[in-house]
Amino acid sequence: MTAAMLLQARGLSRRYGSDDTLVRAVDDIDLDVPAGQALAVMGPSGCGKSTLLQLLGGLQRPTGGEVWLGGRRVDTMSERALAKLRRDRIGFVFQDFHLMDELSAVENVELAALLAGQPPRRARRRATYLLDRVGLADRARHLPSELSGGQRQRVAIARALSNEPDVVLADEPTGNLDTAATHEVLRLFDELRAAGQTLVVVTHDARIAAVADRVISMRDGAFADSLHVGR
Ligand SMILES: Nc1ncnc2c1ncn2[C@@H]1O[C@H](COP(=O)(O)OP(=O)(O)O)[C@@H](O)[C@H]1O
Ligand SMILES: [Mg+2]
Repeated sequence: MTAAMLLQARGLSRRYGSDDTLVRAVDDIDLDVPAGQALAVMGPSGCGKSTLLQLLGGLQRPTGGEVWLGGRRVDTMSERALAKLRRDRIGFVFQDFHLMDELSAVENVELAALLAGQPPRRARRRATYLLDRVGLADRARHLPSELSGGQRQRVAIARALSNEPDVVLADEPTGNLDTAATHEVLRLFDELRAAGQTLVVVTHDARIAAVADRVISMRDGAFADSLHVGR
């Protein structure tokens, strides 16, 4: 695989069931994401977006093909190596935030930094810095239940950045948000893009295209077309 590409897939496939129940959720996909690219993969519900993202992030194993991240083959790694890869090199953002309800905003971010092996003082400093970066310095001690949806997703994005990930993988990050909150989150993704963070966002929300360098359309488990936004 090419060293210049941060993230690559070759012949990537994930099938569910067999015979009558066979679903080709991801069907023979090739993908090259250079470092620093903000990629949006768009398509209707059920086209395989979440499955693709989970395969790329080592949350699920393919039934065929290969995934490479930073020159290392992901799909054949041991569970242990996969857990370490996810912890150290990938930032995940989910539609429903996945925050710890009983931890404050800053503690949610800090916990991820601690789990990634940062010493406690550094983890706290980094969490404070990241919350400031996502515009939530004044909400650091609030619980998720005391935050709006957009604020929760910004905490989740700060958490995804706690390990200085090679790539942020986001699955419908605006899926549970109203229009105002969607714009908050899009603005934040645009800042990450401008700062050179490699991003893969899968969504059916066409607004995400505004913060991507490249948009791929997905249908029935395969890529339909690819557009470079060219900036
Ligand atoms: N665990 C599973 N078992 C069987 N079929 C599944 C499973 N997960 C997803 N699928 C099917 O795979 C296809 C792609 O699903 P998914 O990746 O969730 O699509 P999207 O995220 O684009 O909505 C759908 O047809 C879905 O029903
Ligand atoms: Mg999905």
